[in-house]
Parts: sequence; C-alpha cells; structure tokens
Amino acid sequence: MTVLKLGGSIVTDKDSPETLAKHAIAHAAMAIAGYVEAEADNDLVLVHGGGSFGHFHASEHDVTPTEGSRDGAAVLAIHEAMQELNEAVVGALADEKVPALPVHPLSAARRSAEGDLSLPLETTATMVEEGFVPVLHGDVVVHEGAGATILSGDELVVELARGLDADRVGLCSAVPGVLDEAGSVVRRIQAFEDVESVLGASESTDVTGGMAAKVQELLDLEMPASIFAVDDLGPFLAGDAVGTRID
Ligand code: IPE
Repeated sequence: MTVLKLGGSIVTDKDSPETLAKHAIAHAAMAIAGYVEAEADNDLVLVHGGGSFGHFHASEHDVTPTEGSRDGAAVLAIHEAMQELNEAVVGALADEKVPALPVHPLSAARRSAEGDLSLPLETTATMVEEGFVPVLHGDVVVHEGAGATILSGDELVVELARGLDADRVGLCSAVPGVLDEAGSVVRRIQAFEDVESVLGASESTDVTGGMAAKVQELLDLEMPASIFAVDDLGPFLAGDAVGTRID
C-alpha cells in the first residue's frame, strides 16, 4: 500500500484565498488514475493539505495544532473550507474513473490532552480492501482540554502509514525534494545528521510546516518515504526513484 499526500501548495493557489489549482489537481488525478488502473493490487490512500482553503481560515481564527478554539462557527469555517477542497479533489479523481471516497477526520479523530492523535482506521482500511481510494485531508480535530485544533495532512500521513502498515509514503509538494545549500535536491537521507546543516535543528515547533520536522518524522517511519514535485508523481507511483528518498 502507498500513502500519498498532495500538499496544499499543489492542490490550491497558496497566495489567493480559497482558490483551487485546477490544472495541478487534474494532472495529479490523471497520474493517480494511471497507477490505480495499472494493477488491481495497487492500493492507495490519499491525503491532501489545506493550502489557501484550510490555512486561510485557520489563521483568520488563530487556530493552530496547539492553540485550539471552542468557537463553533470558527471550527466549522475551517472544516467546511477543507470539505470543499476535498470535494474538488475527489471529484477530479472521479472524473478520471478513480473510485475515490472522502474521509473527514473531524468526524472520527481526537487529540488527547497530551496532544496524541487517535484516529480509528477500520473504515479507511475496509475502503482499500474493497477497491476504493480513501481521500483524507488536513482538518480541525477535537482536542481534550483545548476545544478543536489543526490536524495537518503530514500528521495524518504518518498515522496512516503506521496504522495501515504501508509499504511506502510519498509527499508530493511544491519543491522537488529536500534542497542542499546549492539548491540541488538531496537524493537520499538516512540520518538526520546528513541534512542538519541545511535544515537546522529538528526540534522545530512548527508542526504543520518545517522541512526539518517533516524529515525527522519520515526518518522515524519504518517504511521509505519520498518528497518530490508534481511532475514526478507518475514516476514515483510507477516505482522510480524521484526527489528525496528518506529511509
Ligand atoms: C492543514 O494541513 C490543514 C488545515 C489548515 C485545516 P497541512 O498543514 O497538511 O496543509 P499544507 O499541505 O501545508 O497546505
């Protein structure tokens, strides 16, 4: 099984509130359709980020992964924006005959007072077993003692990859991989020390962004992960080495 995240900067125009990147969504949907159609056992779970839908409303209402809100209208505004984006992504996949189905984390997940995420995966697992492609998304999530906080797509990817025992993880992002000082893609990262000089310390508090924290989390995963740009999505799905491989 492959767990693939389409970053918010791929599926939206990050600089303009609630603007879909329709061309990129369609391109990604075509690449995914090619993969899903190629072989019956090409299992896939998709996640997408918030981009100018979720992040716009989250910052409007000062909601972060740690700073919550109990304002129902604020939480709903963030969720509804994400639901709209999810509908666009699922719709584009359906147009390409991918049997994509939406999964909304808000309705099932929770965070404990310590910040630990719990997300029941039975529904997602059964969707995959039955030949569907579940499409989850960054969302708001109820948080014990804090109201509701932001759940990033990256956090979902890690949770899904572990919980569903995925074979590989892909993060399709705006950058072609982790870049070194000269701006070239670092092809492989096997230890954080390999990139510490270019990424800085890994104890970043930026949970939804920050390449350092992202790389550290991917290194901690049992399965290989790749970070690559949208042009490399098809080749990644086909099994080619693209972008930065973290294992
Ligand atoms: C953010 O998810 C979700 C919300 C703001 C509701 P991500 O943090 O994964 O989104 P991108 O990929 O960085 O845009």
